[in-house]
This record gives sequence, structure tokens and C-alpha cells, in this order.
Amino acid sequence: IFEKYHIDEEMGFALPNPLEKLPPPYDEWISIAKNLPELIKKNELRKKVDELKILSIDGLSGHKLQRLARLALGYITMAYVWNQGDGDVRKVLPQNIAIPYCELSEKLGLPPILVYADCVLANWKKKDPNGPMTYENMDILFWFPGGDCSKGFFLVSLLVELAAASAIKVIPNLLKAVKNQDEVTLKKALHYIASCLHRAHKEFEEVHKHVDPSTFFKVLRIYLSGWKGNSKLPEGLKYEGFWENPKEFAGGSAAQSSIFQCFDILLGIQQCSGEEFAAEFLQEMRNYMPPAHRDFLLLLKSGPSVREFVRSRDDVELKADYNECVKAMVSLRKYHLKIVAKYIVIPASQQPKNNQASEESSEQKNKGTGGTNAMDFLKSVRTTTEKFLLIDH
Ligand code: HEM
Ligand code: ALA
Repeated sequence: IFEKYHIDEEMGFALPNPLEKLPPPYDEWISIAKNLPELIKKNELRKKVDELKILSIDGLSGHKLQRLARLALGYITMAYVWNQGDGDVRKVLPQNIAIPYCELSEKLGLPPILVYADCVLANWKKKDPNGPMTYENMDILFWFPGGDCSKGFFLVSLLVELAAASAIKVIPNLLKAVKNQDEVTLKKALHYIASCLHRAHKEFEEVHKHVDPSTFFKVLRIYLSGWKGNSKLPEGLKYEGFWENPKEFAGGSAAQSSIFQCFDILLGIQQCSGEEFAAEFLQEMRNYMPPAHRDFLLLLKSGPSVREFVRSRDDVELKADYNECVKAMVSLRKYHLKIVAKYIVIPASQQPKNNQASEESSEQKNKGTGGTNAMDFLKSVRTTTEKFLLIDH
């Protein structure tokens, strides 16, 4: 069942052992993507990209090779648009990169912009292949300017994802238990899920150690920004030679991770019952997930309802076990809010005020890279999650 949905028993939605090299002639993309910070600093990146030959993507066979090519082209595209992050923005992506990138994106069912499935799920390796999946034994494959900030942010995201993902393997048991009205097995599965979510929380706390707020805010986020509702590219990006008109796409964000949405659905936490703008955004982010993962979420949604079953039983213990999972989701989201205050709201308030349009620009500065008004959105999602705690009468 998991194979069909491109899910790994242990790693969940992460791509197991991503490749790092492309065969010629595609290796040109890799060499640019590998040297991004250096090329940007020397102001040579755009020239390098302009000189690339248009390659057909027909020689890229196999899912892992295609994911790697997408990752490299995604990095190059972000770098081409934002370059040194100083406001000198390109609104046209030249055809020699736009055509292969759009063709490959179409093939993989993803939009032609860097997404979470690229920079987090497919952007890692182990230093010692026989060693553990820990921060110390891992590295990322591609870097943005800002030193270790991209490594810190992408790897911590991946480790949070992996901790939560180890709960995926009990989903079949959980759904079977509901079908068979087997409360003992259900309790066990819920316990296990809660323990994985608690571990995810622990991994989340590592962000303080590995990500510097000022570099994150001033440097890394620029390269994750997209061109949807972004005043710097009000019409979006023109993908030369592929589409006649410019297209808008949201920037990279962990909101594109399937794992949180997966547990929302499994626990019957209906984000669609919350505020419309929040629900719509979460729904839209599914278009930025690999199609197989999107399909898995739909499959879960069509399955039996754990929540309804728990509600229908007069079992205090079962309710408590269910609530433990919902509480863990609330707690992750509360913690996430604190992180966003530290990494976005505070640095934004410390930026020098721009006199003419300070009103507009402060709202712009508090926007997430995915395009939301970050705090409003995240508070709304947290509040909706809290509403799904089962209260005894
Ligand atoms: C959404 C910021 C780390 C998971 C968001 C949003 C922002 C944000 C602003 C709103 C959507 C947008 O416009 O982009 C941050 C910051 C982080 C961070 C500043 C650390 C420095 C993480 C990590 C994870 C994560 C490590 C877990 C893998 C999520 C999820 C959402 C989200 C699941 C969607 C809302 C929800 O379901 O609760 N994040 N994030 N974030 N982020 Fe993060
Ligand atoms: N979504 C994260 C942000 O807005 C990366 O900063």
C-alpha cells in the first residue's frame, strides 16, 4: 500500500537516499546549483544561466534522477530571480532553463518553483552511510547564500518530518482497529502516534541551535520567496518559451509538508471548519506536494473516521489517548508560533522603517514565504486544532 503512494515505512514522505549526481550533459545544472552562493557573490550566476544550452529532459530516467534535476533547477531558478537579494529582480526566466524546468515539473506533477519536496525531502545525505540519521551525521546537497542557515533550516525540518513520519507505519493498524472495533489495538496505535509527535517536538527545539534568526530573516527567506501575491513580481514570473503569460506560484514553505495534514486528517481535525482563508491556503498547498502524497491524503480522508469511533464509545481511556494526539498537534503548532515570532516577527520589527510605504511594507515583511499573513494564519490553524479536543460531559 505505501509503495503506491511513494511513502517509505521509515521515512514517510521524505525521498529515501536522494541521488547527488546527474549524468552529462545535465551535470552542468549540478555544477551551477552546487556553487550558487559563490556565483551569486561574484555576480556571475545570471550570466552562467544565460549561457546554458537548452536540454531535452528525455535523458532523465527514473524518479530519483528527475527529483534531483528538479531540485537543482529549482535552486537555480530562485537564485536567478532573486540574485543578490537586493531588489534587483528578474521577471523573466530564460527559455534555456524555463523549458526543461517546466517540462520536468509537468512530468512530476509539481509547479515550476522550489517546493518543500525539493529543498527538504530530496536535499539530504548521510555523511557516514552506515551511521544514524542525526543532524551530526547529515548534510544538505545544495546551499543558498547565508552560510549554514540553509543546512540548519532544511535539516531541522527534515528531522521533524522524520520523527513524525515514523507514526505512518501504524496507520494500517489504526484503521483496521476502527473497522474491527478493536479498542485495545486502537489505543496502542494512538499511543505510538502521540509518542512520535512528541519526538517531533523535541526535534523542532533544535532549530534554535542551528538557525540564526537574523540570517534566516535577511538572507535565506529571500531565496524561498515566490511570485504569488508578491509586489516585487506583481504578475508572477514569465517562463520564456513555455507559457505566453507570466505565472504566479507560492514560495517554499513547510506548509507544503504532507505530514501535518496527514495527521490532521487521520485524527479528524477538520481544518476546513476553521477560517476560510486558512483552510483555502492549506488546501492550495496540496498542489505543491508530489501527486502520490496528495493522493494519500485523499485516501485517508475517504477512510473510516477514528474520531467518530472514539466519540461513539464510552471509553474514558480511549478518549484520553485520542486527546493526547490532538494535544500533541496543538503543542507543535503553539511552539511553531513562538518560532515564527522569533524568526520573522521580531526581525521584521527591527528592520529600518521605509518611510514612504511603511504601512504596506510592514505587512509585506510579516508575510510567510508561502504568502500568508503568517501570524493570523498560524493562530487560526492552532485554534481550529484545539477545537477538536474531545471534552467529557
Ligand atoms: C507554516 C514559518 C519551521 C511546519 C508556516 C508559515 C510560516 C512558517 C510563516 C505560514 C505559511 C507561509 O506563508 O509560509 C516557519 C519558520 C520556521 C518554520 C520561521 C523556522 C525557522 C517549520 C518546521 C516545520 C514547519 C521545522 C516542520 C517540519 C509548518 C507547517 C505549516 C507551516 C505544517 C502549515 C501550518 C500548519 O499546518 O500548522 N511556517 N516555519 N515549520 N510550517 Fe513553518
Ligand atoms: N515558511 C517559512 C517562512 O515564511 C520558511 O519564513
